[in-house]
Amino acid sequence: MSTALHPPVRRPQRVAYATCRGVEDGEAMPVLAAFARLGVSAEAVFWNDPGVDWAGYDLVLVRSVWDYILHRAEFLAWSRRVSALTRLANPARVLERNTDKTYLRELAAAGLPVVPTLWVAPGDPVDGVAAVDWPELVVKPTVSSGARDTVRTADRAEALAQVAALTAAGRTAMVQPYLAMVEDEGETSLLYLGGEFSHAVRRGPMLGGGFADVAREPDADQLALAARVLAVAAEPGELLYARVDLVRLADGSPALIELELTEPRLFLALCPDGPDRLAAAARALLPGTPDRAPVFHRRDC
Ligand SMILES: Nc1ncnc2c1ncn2[C@@H]1O[C@H](COP(=O)(O)OP(=O)(O)O)[C@@H](O)[C@H]1O
Ligand SMILES: [Mg+2]
Repeated sequence: MSTALHPPVRRPQRVAYATCRGVEDGEAMPVLAAFARLGVSAEAVFWNDPGVDWAGYDLVLVRSVWDYILHRAEFLAWSRRVSALTRLANPARVLERNTDKTYLRELAAAGLPVVPTLWVAPGDPVDGVAAVDWPELVVKPTVSSGARDTVRTADRAEALAQVAALTAAGRTAMVQPYLAMVEDEGETSLLYLGGEFSHAVRRGPMLGGGFADVAREPDADQLALAARVLAVAAEPGELLYARVDLVRLADGSPALIELELTEPRLFLALCPDGPDRLAAAARALLPGTPDRAPVFHRRDC
């Protein structure tokens, strides 16, 4: 007589969608619904809610944790704590490196084309900023998102004042040429889910001009650069999601402006099955999932 009468009863897999207070994340509900379609129990949770039992989740998905900008050390400590209890995506090691844009300097040193940038840490000389012949400058902090504390100006004195304000607050400033192509061709964001290219977006400029974000087909040189960036920045299989933001330099060649591996908006609404792609890729990370490799069928998005 067989002894294996019943398969073991398994509780549904649980996913925490990590967000923060006071933000509107339009991607949360569609992604939670996509998990539900897969039979996975997912819920939105504030990353800094002290009452959460993180060990009770099979996966913690880092998403709209946008207030970490003001609490980076606390956020990174949280990511390490959660990693000791359960699976965190993207992993703590990635978040640590990616939440400070000095990673761009490392990628440039590795030979990747990055927007020309002067880096001014507290105490550094600022003569370089006065010397550049860029007609317009962008000054921004290395820890930021959504163009927070970012200034565009043709006035050196104003640029230097912003550098001084950032460094006086103990922050490192980045000074770049203003790339006017963000107002016509636009910045291109390439979205990767589960390690595969999913879709791309033409981004509206944030420091002037203005048009809405729309889906776009990336050019071959953009896809090639994004693949190179990801190969240098992460181990194979390490990233659940990634956004590679590219611009074009004066000679037309693509260059990296930002690599978003922490809390990128994924523009899932611009891709018909975007939420399902993310949920499928996330489920493939869960313990005991039979189909470990997500299969996407690319449609127009
Ligand atoms: N050098 C630049 N030239 C033109 N636009 C820029 C430049 N740097 C930033 N911007 C604009 O500001 C936005 C935010 O800057 P970014 O470097 O992506 O930092 P974050 O998104 O983390 O705030 C960009 O998407 C772009 O619209
Ligand atoms: Mg950006």
